[in-house]
Amino acid sequence: MNIVQNQLIRWIETHTVSDIVILTDAKISQLYPDYFNQLKETYSTHTILLPEGEKSKNIDVCRETWEKMLSLPIDRNALIINWGGGSISDTGGYIAGCYKRGIRYINIPTTLLAMIDAAIGGKTGINFAGVKNAVGLIYLPETVLTDASFLNTLPYEELRSGYGELIKYAMIDDDNLWEEIKGNTAISPETIDPCWIQRCSTLKKKITSQDLYDHDLRRVLNFGHTVGHAIESYCMTQGTPINHGHAVALGIICESHISWQLHRISKCQLDEISQYIKQLYPLPALPQEANEKMLEFCLNDKKNNGKCLNITLLDEPGHATPNYEISTDEVLASLHHLRTIYH
Ligand SMILES: NC(=O)c1ccc[n+]([C@@H]2O[C@H](COP(=O)([O-])OP(=O)(O)OC[C@H]3O[C@@H](n4cnc5c(N)ncnc54)[C@H](O)[C@@H]3O)[C@@H](O)[C@H]2O)c1
Repeated sequence: MNIVQNQLIRWIETHTVSDIVILTDAKISQLYPDYFNQLKETYSTHTILLPEGEKSKNIDVCRETWEKMLSLPIDRNALIINWGGGSISDTGGYIAGCYKRGIRYINIPTTLLAMIDAAIGGKTGINFAGVKNAVGLIYLPETVLTDASFLNTLPYEELRSGYGELIKYAMIDDDNLWEEIKGNTAISPETIDPCWIQRCSTLKKKITSQDLYDHDLRRVLNFGHTVGHAIESYCMTQGTPINHGHAVALGIICESHISWQLHRISKCQLDEISQYIKQLYPLPALPQEANEKMLEFCLNDKKNNGKCLNITLLDEPGHATPNYEISTDEVLASLHHLRTIYH
């Protein structure tokens, strides 16, 4: 047994648990068919397969899972294990939070994005009526157990997506991490130091425990996300979607440029960040005519009030401050910078 398998057994041994329900998808369970063998020998364990990726974040998937759990039957002392990426932990956390008014769950993330971000902090939920994360709960897992060896089978695009969030953590609260990662010019399971995962997840845990309901401090985690979401949404509407972390990485370039416009970081720091991201992430097609649409997406961002945009800005790489009001002109200038550096 590896460390995570041991930690899981130890957790279960020290708590009252009736049944265990593993929520995962077919791909993960086929890649790692023996992962829970030890657990299955000792405890009453049921595996329920959800659709892969974003398709699991759906009310019908929740309804079918609740029906299966009721028919087994699964009682209030059961434990759910969400074994997968952010789609599984978002959906599974929501399923756990609603079932019999809330049963316990543990996340075992299998993507980089989930290890450092999605599995931590208790934001759970599904997409509804075409709106992403429209329905959900803040409902914390008992614990998050991270086994970095899952990254060995993660497709490159997914790994690179998670790495976009890792760059964000390096930007917002850990100057040493930025110093370490900026020498890394290839994204692969071998070049991602498990210590980086540990530092990012600790940081997310620290920030979310201080501001669980996203009133203030937690907004620092949105660095790169206002413009990033706009790029992600624009690409989606064009039928050429890019991964979330890819869009965040491009958003980091733009929001670093806004930090520079407002004299918070130097030109040298801006160039260093921009060039680093440029070598790892391609620029999707973002013609000049896309600006208006992207501004609209920025203004629709839930963090804004009125015509001003509320974003997190860098004080320097490694330190950021949330809740700056900026203008749409500053966003337009940052999009111009993005196109220029890729030219
Ligand atoms: N709750 C939060 O705080 C939070 C934060 C960020 C993102 N999210 C959500 O996370 C979701 C995205 O999650 P994600 O990026 O982790 O991807 P994902 O969960 O959608 O999974 C993507 C694909 O990777 C596959 N996969 C997962 N682990 C694998 C492995 N080890 N080897 C091979 N294939 C593997 C899955 O089967 C799936 O096909 C989005 O819905 C997003 O909204 C939530």
